Amino acid sequence: MRKLITPILAVAMAISVVSCSVEEKKQKEEKVMYSEDPHSFSKPNEAVVKHLSLDISLDFDTKIINGVALYKIERKTADSIVFDVKGLTINKVFLNYGKATTFEIKKGDINGDALVIKIDESTTEVGIDYTTGKGALALQWLALEQTGGKETPYLFTQGQAILTRTWIPCQDSPGIRISYDAKVKVPVGMMAVMSADNGQEKNATGEYTFDMDIPIPCYLIALAVGDIEFKAIGPRTGVYCEPYLLEESAYEFGDMERMLTVTEEMYGPYPWGRYDVIVLPPSFPFGGMENPKLTFATPTIIAGDRSLTALIAHEMAHSWSGNLVTNATWSHIWVNEGFTVYLEQRIMEEMYGREYSEMLASLSLQEVMEEIEEMGQDNPDTRLEIDLAGRNPDDGFSGVPYNKGYLMLRKMEETYGRELFDEFLKGYFKTYQFKSITTQLFEEYLADSLFSQSDIKFNTDEWIHKPGMPASVSVIESDKFLNVEVVMYEFVKGIDASEIETKDWSTHEWLHFITNLPNDLTRAQMSNLDDVFNLTKSSNSEILSAWLIYSVANNYEVAFESAEQFLINVGRRKFLTPLYKKLIETDENHPGLAASIYAKARSNYHAVSYETLDKLFEKQ
Ligand code: BES
Ligand code: ZN
Repeated sequence: MRKLITPILAVAMAISVVSCSVEEKKQKEEKVMYSEDPHSFSKPNEAVVKHLSLDISLDFDTKIINGVALYKIERKTADSIVFDVKGLTINKVFLNYGKATTFEIKKGDINGDALVIKIDESTTEVGIDYTTGKGALALQWLALEQTGGKETPYLFTQGQAILTRTWIPCQDSPGIRISYDAKVKVPVGMMAVMSADNGQEKNATGEYTFDMDIPIPCYLIALAVGDIEFKAIGPRTGVYCEPYLLEESAYEFGDMERMLTVTEEMYGPYPWGRYDVIVLPPSFPFGGMENPKLTFATPTIIAGDRSLTALIAHEMAHSWSGNLVTNATWSHIWVNEGFTVYLEQRIMEEMYGREYSEMLASLSLQEVMEEIEEMGQDNPDTRLEIDLAGRNPDDGFSGVPYNKGYLMLRKMEETYGRELFDEFLKGYFKTYQFKSITTQLFEEYLADSLFSQSDIKFNTDEWIHKPGMPASVSVIESDKFLNVEVVMYEFVKGIDASEIETKDWSTHEWLHFITNLPNDLTRAQMSNLDDVFNLTKSSNSEILSAWLIYSVANNYEVAFESAEQFLINVGRRKFLTPLYKKLIETDENHPGLAASIYAKARSNYHAVSYETLDKLFEKQ
């Protein structure tokens, strides 16, 4: 693994280049250094990729991708260029115009391997002919019965954090950006879409071409293939989905065009052209993934009443925080996720009002407080900037970068006022657009901008570098939630569930109700709630998930069959982990149930989910 050097980032580049002479510009560019990344073998300060032309074909029978990754590169000093690969077979490598060269694969560690290719001073292109391995972690190949529509097989990829190297040889560090074009050959009758400009119809040849002319880090290269159709929502927005869920998805995301306009009004023009969403089969391991131009999303947000679309606001917000300004390495992931939760909140407030967005904020606060409690107040992973060297970035993953990050930015907004804070945010996006940023650089920028405009002090240290939650965290009060608490008190004290007035409750009020129910409800009270509100059969995935966790914790066996079906059909890790955890914790109530469900369900999960769950079961 490479030694640590101080990250020097593109601050100079950020200063307007318009007035610079070519020579000055060149000098500034030469000063640009890439951050040291403990999760990539590449040496971008010596030779770096600039553009990828990908030419691949997909074989659904063997579950293998085969093709060529042709890179335009910029060589600085080195006589070799290093790529990240994991489980790939390298068939051949070549330089400009097919010139032969040699390569070596240096065996690595959790990061995979280093592919080192000899280059010389005339090299501007490097081609890699490769085949993916059987267990390529980014890929999930679904048999037709594992899809939503159950008629055509499916493939989707998940790149973040360090999985792109399992299907494309690449310099897989979020600090390195490339533009790309791609030619993807799939079986006739299927459609392919990517995080790029997409067509809107299947074609007769099965050969699809793509362009992404804006440079992106390669964790954002993404592909989905299957029986996919498109429906427009607004002039710049639309939804891709298997046909069985297309209409419902289009209804669910009906506010998307307005959401995009509202976000632009707050944070500056949307730079990516179109914003579409693809609703994937239920095994997608995340709620959403912000692949540029085309967010990947779980079907579990299709609730029928647009109540879970904060997730779309979140992924859309990443078009600014994450995709435009990107964390330099995964230790700084809060720079992506914390800003994004903050933007998500602001978008939701703008769209549906403060009362609504404060419910979301209150849920975030409760969630992160519980999580920090569980992780331990002194746990170093409860700092915003975390140390991931030698670890899988996924091991440091938690709600902390999201919600503690959000709460810090919210506190800054409250401290300096919205006007000043918004000005700071806009300046931040403009200054660092298409660049990568470390926590240190963020702190320096903050000192020079927001903090320099006021005498009020802000203690960033307790948020960023200290574990736990600072005592100064905002108090978040929601009248709607207070009302829920009053009603809950009455229910606990003995009124019948049918007397609870829930007609106007949003999903969030339901979640507040269920997650705060005391653990000493009687069996009769649980049945009463279930009979009146049909919770065990809820079609809202968030409500169902919360109820199932509560049911398992309280040994309400009536819900176990529903829990099993949910765990078999859904692959979203956020739902799986806490429910399996509860099942394992309460194993003596139902010996072997967790393991037997997992044995049935595991083959339906993407690697992101089963790798986390395997660890959970190993710990037993
Ligand atoms: N970029 C993340 C998903 C991710 C994080 C993938 C880390 C791999 C490593 C995405 O934007 C996200 O945060 N999704 C959340 C949505 C939620 C916070 C609204 C999810 O999937 O639950
Ligand atoms: Zn996110």
